[in-house]
This record gives sequence, structure tokens and C-alpha cells, in this order.
Amino acid sequence: MSISSDNPLREDLLSRQVAKPCSLVIFGATGDLTHRKLIPALYNLAADNDLPPGIKVTGFARRDKTDDYWRNELAESNRKNSRSGHDPEVWEEFASNISYHRGNFNDTDAYHSLSRHLDMIDADGSTMHNRLFYLSTAPEFFPIVLENLKEAGLNQSRNGGWTRVIIEKPLGSDLTTAQELNRVLSNTFSEDDTYRIDHYLGKETAQNIMILRFANAIFEPLWRSRFIEQVQITCAEDLGMEGGRGGYYDTAGATRDMVQNHLLQLLCLIAMEPPTDLSADSVRDEKVKVLRSLRRMGPEEVERNIVRAQYTHGEINDESVPGYLQEERIADESKTESYVAMRIFIDNWRWEGTPFYVRMGKRLPKKATEISLHLKSPPNVLFQKLPSIDGSNVLTMRIQPDEGMSVRMLSKLPGNTLQIEPVKMDFHYLSSFGKGSPEAYERLLLDAMAGDATLFARRDEVENAWLFIDAIESAWHEHEQPPPMAEYPAGSWGPPEADQLLAERGHHWREL
Ligand SMILES: NC(=O)c1ccc[n+]([C@@H]2O[C@H](COP(=O)([O-])OP(=O)(O)OC[C@H]3O[C@@H](n4cnc5c(N)ncnc54)[C@H](OP(=O)(O)O)[C@@H]3O)[C@@H](O)[C@H]2O)c1
Repeated sequence: MSISSDNPLREDLLSRQVAKPCSLVIFGATGDLTHRKLIPALYNLAADNDLPPGIKVTGFARRDKTDDYWRNELAESNRKNSRSGHDPEVWEEFASNISYHRGNFNDTDAYHSLSRHLDMIDADGSTMHNRLFYLSTAPEFFPIVLENLKEAGLNQSRNGGWTRVIIEKPLGSDLTTAQELNRVLSNTFSEDDTYRIDHYLGKETAQNIMILRFANAIFEPLWRSRFIEQVQITCAEDLGMEGGRGGYYDTAGATRDMVQNHLLQLLCLIAMEPPTDLSADSVRDEKVKVLRSLRRMGPEEVERNIVRAQYTHGEINDESVPGYLQEERIADESKTESYVAMRIFIDNWRWEGTPFYVRMGKRLPKKATEISLHLKSPPNVLFQKLPSIDGSNVLTMRIQPDEGMSVRMLSKLPGNTLQIEPVKMDFHYLSSFGKGSPEAYERLLLDAMAGDATLFARRDEVENAWLFIDAIESAWHEHEQPPPMAEYPAGSWGPPEADQLLAERGHHWREL
């Protein structure tokens, strides 16, 4: 998409800071996220010449490994996970800046030795004394790692460099635990140096929502309840609890795991007012206003507006799969939802009365995330003699896979009779720009190195999102008469109760 020179967004977009050299320390260096996402993201940035020179990567984990052993393991997983393949020459150059530091998160000495290790790396000046700590660890370790970084003085900037921290989800399991985590974070790093990753915000189509809305005159005037009948945000996953996912998932559920963070973030991007500029705080201020305008739900509203469900035994891709309660590491009488559908209202000027339907489910027929805005139908007076057809225009944003957008409209069928059919105008990133989108972690790592926190969640965003979610969880788990848990067969699109939720207002879920 080209942005014309008289576009007011242009200056802001082009003046984004550039990523700076630094020492990147990954806590949890032998874990799944490091192998599948972080190292392939860094490798791809290196392959595209986007990684600033002077980047040094240090892995921190408990197992005993030499630098070479860890590099070889990383090369192996990069071959499997890199989006652009694995060029041995690029890899060798990139890997020469990787080292491993063995340590236990609880051991303060390990942080002092890490400090000496980083001083040695800094000695040639290539990192400009900048340090970026990435907490790719289970959440129970966040506080101890932060406290030990502080104890070793590693949270302090030195010699003109900066020191920042990136923290992974889950950011608490409710408002109280999120506040406690934020308290520990703010004891160690300033809010400006804290980068809370929500990898959905790093996805190209999520970033494109603001461009679509605020750089195109065609959409913005329609972007309000006067013209929009309903909004749908769907995140479907075909996976269940395989690969040991059950343990964590059963303590969280679809709402805490996906809605509190990723789906509410997407809702904010759709619903927010134009920010005064594209600085991180202006954008995040507007998102917080949306979160504060979400209509809070008491137990009765939860029962009326939310459907929760668990999958039962079924078939996906011709394969028979067990029900949620039969999965490994799931409690026998678990009351954790693997599916949730919500009707959310935003009580502000722009969105008064427009339902936002948000659904997330495991073991649905396919993996897909998309947002659709359904416009109100025009008066049918001219075409009332024709067979009735759903006349609403629908703007769809596909977040994954096949990132892109489409607009549904009605058109005359070619021929000598008047017949109307829906048609679709489609835009795919791959075919329009000749290349696929980078992985979300690539963009987010570069932004953290550049000091641009726009795509990271601020403290008050996280806490306001929990405030909304806590009321729902409390109606489910603390109320005397909790609403029932619905069921859906694995491989279906969810329980009939979720269809009924939309049918009450004459709506239906968009087919993905
Ligand atoms: N994996 C994903 O796709 C994904 C996606 C989104 C968010 N996340 C989040 O990212 C974080 C990391 O996830 P993950 O899947 O990579 O976890 P993981 O595979 O379980 O890896 C955990 C890492 O922590 C290290 N570790 C554990 N206890 C330690 C200790 N006492 N001292 C030092 N190191 C210790 C392990 O090192 P040793 O093996 O040497 O013990 C390992 O490197 C989690 O917060 C998760 O929620 C993950």
C-alpha cells in the first residue's frame, strides 16, 4: 500500500525509530518459544538485513551446554521453523554472535556471572551498552528473574546504553495477580522500558487495521453504530490439548488464554477513536478508553450474553479425537471452557447498541482468526420483488492464515434478467505485495530494540482487560448458580447455544 506524501500519517509512519544494537538475553533459552519463534525471527531479520549490526544473543537456562552445542541445537530448529529457509552462510554469521550462559533462575550468583559475561560482550563497544532481557519463561518465574536482575544491578542502564525487558504472556491470571506482576515489574524497570508482548499485535493485518481505518476515506465515515450492524471477531483453532498443553490450559481456559489479551486487543483496534498521533502512548490511551467503555457484566448479563462450552469426542481431518474431559492432564470434572462466545457492548458514543461478537474455540474445524464488520442493509424498496438475499456488505480482515481483506457486496448477475448475487473483492498480502508477511516476533523484537512500544500492552491496558474478564470468571466460578457448560463435538463450529446467541438479534456467525 503506498502512502501519498500529503497523507498526515506519513510523517509519523516514516519517522519510527530504528532498531539499535544490543545484547539480547533470553531467559528460557532451551524452551519451545526460543526454538520455534525467537531464534527463527532473529535469523530471518538477519537474512533480510534488518537486524542492526552488533546484536549479541545470550541464552540463559538451567541445562548444561556449551556455546557450540546450543548453536547446533538452534541451527536444527531454525531449519524446521524459519519462514525463509536456512542459508548456512547467513546462519554462521548470525550464530557467531550467540552464546550460552548456564544458570538457575533462583541462583543470584548466576546473575552476577551473567553480568560479567555481558560486560565482556560490551567491551568492544558493538552493543553500545544496550541490553534487552527477554523473559521467555513460565510465569511463576517472572518475579524471581526480575528480582534477581535487580539484585545484580542488571536493571540499571550504564555507559549511555538503555536496558529494557520483554515479558511474555500470561500477564497474570486475574486482576490481582496482574497487579502484583506489574508491581514487581515497576520495582525493577520503568514502564517505558517494559515491553509486554501480545504477538497478535505484531501480525501484519492487525497493524493494518489502523491504516485501513485512518488512511482511507472510504471506511472511516461508516465506522460507527449508525452504519455497522454487528462486528465479529473469531479465533478458531483445530488443535486440542496434545503436546502436554492440558495442564496449563485447564487452569486458564479460552477466556483467560485468548480473549483477555489477543481478542480484546483486536477489539480495541477496531473500536478505538483516532489517536492524536502514532506515538505509543497516544495509541494506547485510545485502546484503554475502549477497555474502560466495555459494558461490565454481572452474573445475569453473563448468562444472557456469554456461552461457554467444552468439546466432546469428534473427528477432525478424518481423525477421531477425544473430548476435552478425556484429554491428558485435564481434571475429571473440569469446569474450564475450551470454547467461549460473547456478545459485548461498548458504551460510548461511536458504538452505542452495536454488538461485538467475540468467539474463541479449540478443536474447531480449522485454524483461522478473522474480524468482520457487517454493515446495515440498505432499504430494499427497489428490489423487493426479487428473491430475498442477505444484502449486508461485510468487510473482513483475515489475521491468519492467508492474511488479507475482503469486501462482500451485491452485484447484478451478467445476463438479460435482473438477478442479484453476492461478490467478493479480495486482497491477499502475498499476491498484492509479492511476498508474505514477516512473523509477528520479527516486528516486535525490532520494535523493542528501537524503543517503540506501540505494539506492546501498557500496564493499564492489561489491568482494564482483566477487570472486564474477572467479572465473567466470577459469574462462572464463584456464583451460587453458575450458567451451564454447553457442549460441541470436536470438529464442529461450536455449540448450538452460540448460534442462538446471534439468532436472538437476527444475526448468524460468518462462515470461515
Ligand atoms: N511456546 C509458545 O509457543 C509460546 C507462545 C506464547 C507465549 N509463550 C510463553 O512463553 C513462555 C515460555 O514458554 P515455552 O513454551 O518456551 O516454555 P518451555 O518450553 O517450558 O521452556 C522453559 C524454559 O525455562 C527454563 N527453565 C525452567 N526452570 C528454570 C530454572 N529454574 N532455572 C533456569 N531455567 C529454567 C528451561 O530451561 P531448562 O530446560 O534448561 O530447564 C527452558 O529453557 C511462557 O510464559 C509461555 O506462556 C509460549
